[in-house]
Amino acid sequence: MTLLPVPRTAVVIVAAGSGTRLGADRPKAFVGVDDETVLAHALRGVVAVETPMQIVIVAPAGLEGEARAEAERTAGERIDLVSVVLGGPTRQASVAAGLAALWADIEVVLVHDAARALTPPDVFDRVVAAVDETGWGIIPVLPVVDTLKRVNGDRVAAAVDRADLVAAQTPQGFRRDVLATAYAAADAEHTDDAALLQAAGHQVGTVAGSPLSFKITTPEDLDRARRVLADREPAPIVPSRPALILPRVGVGTDVHAFTAAGTLWLAGLEWPRQSALEGHSDGDAVAHAIVDALLSAAGLGDIGTHFGTSRPEFAGAHGSAFLAETRRLVEEAGWTIGNVSVQVQAARPKFSPRRAEAEAALSAVLGAPVSVSATTTDGLGFVGASEGVQAFAVALLIAAR
Ligand code: CTP
Ligand code: MG
Repeated sequence: MTLLPVPRTAVVIVAAGSGTRLGADRPKAFVGVDDETVLAHALRGVVAVETPMQIVIVAPAGLEGEARAEAERTAGERIDLVSVVLGGPTRQASVAAGLAALWADIEVVLVHDAARALTPPDVFDRVVAAVDETGWGIIPVLPVVDTLKRVNGDRVAAAVDRADLVAAQTPQGFRRDVLATAYAAADAEHTDDAALLQAAGHQVGTVAGSPLSFKITTPEDLDRARRVLADREPAPIVPSRPALILPRVGVGTDVHAFTAAGTLWLAGLEWPRQSALEGHSDGDAVAHAIVDALLSAAGLGDIGTHFGTSRPEFAGAHGSAFLAETRRLVEEAGWTIGNVSVQVQAARPKFSPRRAEAEAALSAVLGAPVSVSATTTDGLGFVGASEGVQAFAVALLIAAR
């Protein structure tokens, strides 16, 4: 069951090489680093990127099932975004196989070596942001630290100025249409995807890479990866989450004081001849409690996050305007409102004659059932003294689709 929004970015993880230089008894991506393989670590980095991406794993012949199993262990709720395809005899052929599996909606594609297993998630973010900004091919790079020499056999022919040299890493990011066209036209093997893109006449830019993105090529590199992992803080114990996205609840409360001027607005209704509630907006504590409950359920912050002084258009707005905008935010984040229950504590106005009307008005704005109940406080507290009203709301959200 896919409950995540359709992504616009994809990552092709090439893992189909044999790992000749590593010399292990199985293809490199399937060699254990600690208790997990090179591929599993690469997948963890990709899955930790905040915005979900389509993930295409390019596997060697006979290991497609194992690649799928690694994804099932590591991708969590993003497993529906993963597909596994068979690689080719060269890296370039493997990338081409991965590109052929991209979904129609994909606009930006990253190509990543499984062998760069410890690449941190922020590198992916940087590459995607730079592709979006420039439309160019983008590669993560590190400055070259060693002094470089050009040699002729075993003799040094010349020193090389390293000032304008960098080391290229992956993930390399591209506009999907541009990369697909360049791949279709390629008639030679290139050292990386950026070189292929440049050969087709396109611009390639850089962002900062990471020392952790080193490629596991030799047994020494594998040792280095093992040392990096051994030095890490033990990961916090996070309870494993089911692949199913659970419904989410949120709670919200609000209080507003009565004031002498104006007409009362409460629960989305106008109450003629009742003194108004004070506030930046119309003081509709019922609507505001619902807004907080919905935003909290969606994990989108609170009313101040979205309707504070940075949104002057909401100054003086009615509760229904807040509710409509909140519904839009929640739906944009991939949720559907299940239902809302709200209780108002108020000594006045007398609520019961208009309870059904309030429920209808609030339900209409949210497109979901809203139940409203009202109570007094037996004369106690600020509610009992008629100084103000207070509202409590609970909202349930379910994943859209
Ligand atoms: N790769 C691939 N298909 C190939 C060759 C390479 O998918 N036919 C992938 C590798 O799995 C690796 C990445 O490309 O993740 C970078 O290649 P490299 O480090 O050279 O890996 P191998 O080719 O496996 O190693 P070697 O060159 O030592 O054989
Ligand atoms: Mg190779």
